[in-house]
Amino acid sequence: MAEVIDGKLVAEDVVATVKRLTADLLAKHGVTPGLAVVIVGEDPASQVYVSSKGKKAKECGFHSVQHTLPADTGEAELLKLIGDLNADPAIHGILVQLPLPDHVDAGKVIQTIAPEKDVDGFHFINVGKLGTGELATAFVPCTPAGSMLLIERVRGKDLSGLNAVVVGRSNIVGKPMANLLLAANCTVTIAHSRTKDLPAIARTADILVAAVGRPEMIKGDWVKPGATVIDVGINRIPAPEKGEGKSRLVGDVAYAEAAKVAGAITPVPGGVGPMTIAMLMANTLVSASLAAG
Ligand code: GUN
Repeated sequence: MAEVIDGKLVAEDVVATVKRLTADLLAKHGVTPGLAVVIVGEDPASQVYVSSKGKKAKECGFHSVQHTLPADTGEAELLKLIGDLNADPAIHGILVQLPLPDHVDAGKVIQTIAPEKDVDGFHFINVGKLGTGELATAFVPCTPAGSMLLIERVRGKDLSGLNAVVVGRSNIVGKPMANLLLAANCTVTIAHSRTKDLPAIARTADILVAAVGRPEMIKGDWVKPGATVIDVGINRIPAPEKGEGKSRLVGDVAYAEAAKVAGAITPVPGGVGPMTIAMLMANTLVSASLAAG
């Protein structure tokens, strides 16, 4: 059976380090990291994510502010808020929770965030730095950055020459994940909904990252024996209409099957999920430290 990768434990480690360095930053430079989270509308999943981000920021000793705007907020008003946050010296990280309502151009909003406060790593400057291997000064998107830490915990820091397959090509996870693995000298394949013979490609992976948002799509016999499987998916399966069952969370990987074949695998929940918030805290601390000089 595969080793179960405990993302909660690794995330707690990261958060403990962030807390310690936050206290150091305050003692040495009088600076408290500030994180502003902006949410537009009432998507229940987004509300849960945003409130966990705020709570964790406070736990780290950050200055944490949440801007909750109604669903009909106009683009101009949102851009004005971002401009104000860009100019606010108490704020080091700005996160606009996605998705935004359809009448707002999400791309324009994200590109308005100052790159040095873009702790989500979605601004073209940060995307470009990651794509060109300028990792030392890039903000890297939190979910792929956290997934990378989990991979290194299992396989060590030297991933050179390993075959990595990323299933999913989103800007938030798939593409930055592929770039991180490439920067670590893996041989990287990005697979997606149009890929031919996905099972055969998945079976070549020493490192298999699933980020498609389809419940239990990746089956046990798609997994190479001994592979490291990172399941980024968080899918809520509704409760059956009759009977006792409750709704439950599953990943993009058929966990029970895959765990029989893999060398190591992340569970859902408790794998990648907690790492995303931990890396957001780490990015915000880095931003505040850079601002402190
Ligand atoms: N929505 C889903 N994932 C994310 C994320 O990582 N950042 C933001 N801002 N919104 C999201």
